[in-house]
Amino acid sequence: MSDQTKPQLAASTTGAGAPAPSDRNSLTIGSDGPIVLHDVHFLEQMAHFNREKVPERQPHAKGAGAFGVFETTEDVSAYTKAALFQKGASTEMLARFSTVAGEMGSPDTWRDVRGFSLKFYTSEGNYDLVGNNTPIFFVRDPMKFPHFIRSQKRLPDSGLRDNHMQWDFWTNNPESAHQVTYLMGERGLPRTWRHMNGYGSHTYMWINEAGEKFWVKYHFHTEQGMKFFSNEEAANMAGADADFHRRDLFDAIERGEHPSWILSVQIMPYAEAKAYRFNPFDLTKTWPHKDYPLIRVGKMTLNRNPENFFAQIEQAAFSPGNTVPGIGLSPDKMLLGRAFAYNDAQRNRIGTNFHQLPVNQPKVPVNTYMFDGHMTYHHTGNAPVYAPNSHGRPWADETGPVADGWEADGEMVRSAYVLRSDDDDFGQPGALVREVFNDAQRAALVDTVAGSLLGGVREPVLSNAIQYWKNVDADVGQRIEDKVRAGSAPKPAEGMGEG
Ligand code: HEM
Repeated sequence: MSDQTKPQLAASTTGAGAPAPSDRNSLTIGSDGPIVLHDVHFLEQMAHFNREKVPERQPHAKGAGAFGVFETTEDVSAYTKAALFQKGASTEMLARFSTVAGEMGSPDTWRDVRGFSLKFYTSEGNYDLVGNNTPIFFVRDPMKFPHFIRSQKRLPDSGLRDNHMQWDFWTNNPESAHQVTYLMGERGLPRTWRHMNGYGSHTYMWINEAGEKFWVKYHFHTEQGMKFFSNEEAANMAGADADFHRRDLFDAIERGEHPSWILSVQIMPYAEAKAYRFNPFDLTKTWPHKDYPLIRVGKMTLNRNPENFFAQIEQAAFSPGNTVPGIGLSPDKMLLGRAFAYNDAQRNRIGTNFHQLPVNQPKVPVNTYMFDGHMTYHHTGNAPVYAPNSHGRPWADETGPVADGWEADGEMVRSAYVLRSDDDDFGQPGALVREVFNDAQRAALVDTVAGSLLGGVREPVLSNAIQYWKNVDADVGQRIEDKVRAGSAPKPAEGMGEG
């Protein structure tokens, strides 16, 4: 390349590529005079600036992420034919971590569940696993989801977060007890994103080469070890550095410390789901490891920071509906509700053709019969826009039972799941408090809940909340009541369920 053909980086250009006249002075009639309307460069700057933001995610607005690789180190081909989970496969990926309720600028260390979103750019199309740092969730019917999120966000009049509203929702929806116990425990305050586990949470389907189906739960265990903040540390950090988690991940990767997680799965044979003692598709339940032990699959390592936060993280679009051959959904109603919600949110948040952006684009050829719309970039020229066609453009034509389907029958109803022998709302949270938490963790739980209840929760919600905890565990409930009645809990930290 001769000097003359080298790109000239000395000056900026307009969006159209022509030399920009000035990035410092607008065009005026005399040095002190009015700005002229034909200062196109100035007007373009103003107009584009007005459109610089897109709506933030609703929910999970505050987060950040990094690129990496997933390596399948074990042979799990007996359970799935998915190319990314075949031994030896190495798949480029993107992860995004987030808080649920906080808005774009809210502190990273407020007590909350953390999002754990993964996008695998597989050789069979993009596979997204959009999970959390807890293995369960607050509700089990998607109809309740917008109500839940609103109750954790802000009051309609003052625009403030409100503990009363949060506990009102939780106590009116007792299936929340398991997730609320996790949230009020250590996992509600992870020290960094590198030091937390991730879970697919839902039950998904795996299908092997022979067409056999299995139910599967995903667990990503951090190789950095789990670490947490105390209420006081988290509150201080929220003031000292509201972006602490975002900074920690970015800086660690810059330093060459690449965080990693081991993926293991629990596998339930397809037929066992029908008669298992509790509903294995209920998102408020975990599967006991003694019934379904962990099977190791591989390792995820984050090794590359985004070059541009907006283009690669803010515009990243994850959806539980993005599956690949060998992986399917399940009868979990929450998962089925989610299968629609995300891409629709992204059409609204980013635009009709969000899937064409580099961060969302699959690494395999795309032959979609979705066309045009705002900001179309990739196109198929003059190829037929309808199927079937007589001009050689292939189309899909599956018929009959689908590989990732299941049986369903019955009258159309609006109803909760049918209860099984061990289905209840308080058994698993009670076991978590009694059998998993130690004395110190139980004491911290009592302090955190009492602190949250003392942060503005009024009757009758206050009494309902105390009863809710007595249902989880009589002793813990009593200790919470004693602290609340004595008004003696330590000053709570800010954020979800506190302050
Ligand atoms: C019916 C229930 C649910 C609905 C309707 C729902 C809907 C949504 C929507 C609309 C977004 C914003 C997406 C975007 O703008 O790109 C979102 C984000 C998210 N949701 Fe859900 N959600 C549900 C339940 C869950 C559950 C159970 C989990 C975890 C197990 C979860 C994890 C996440 C995560 C991690 C994000 C952030 C995605 C990202 O990093 O871009 N959600 N959800």
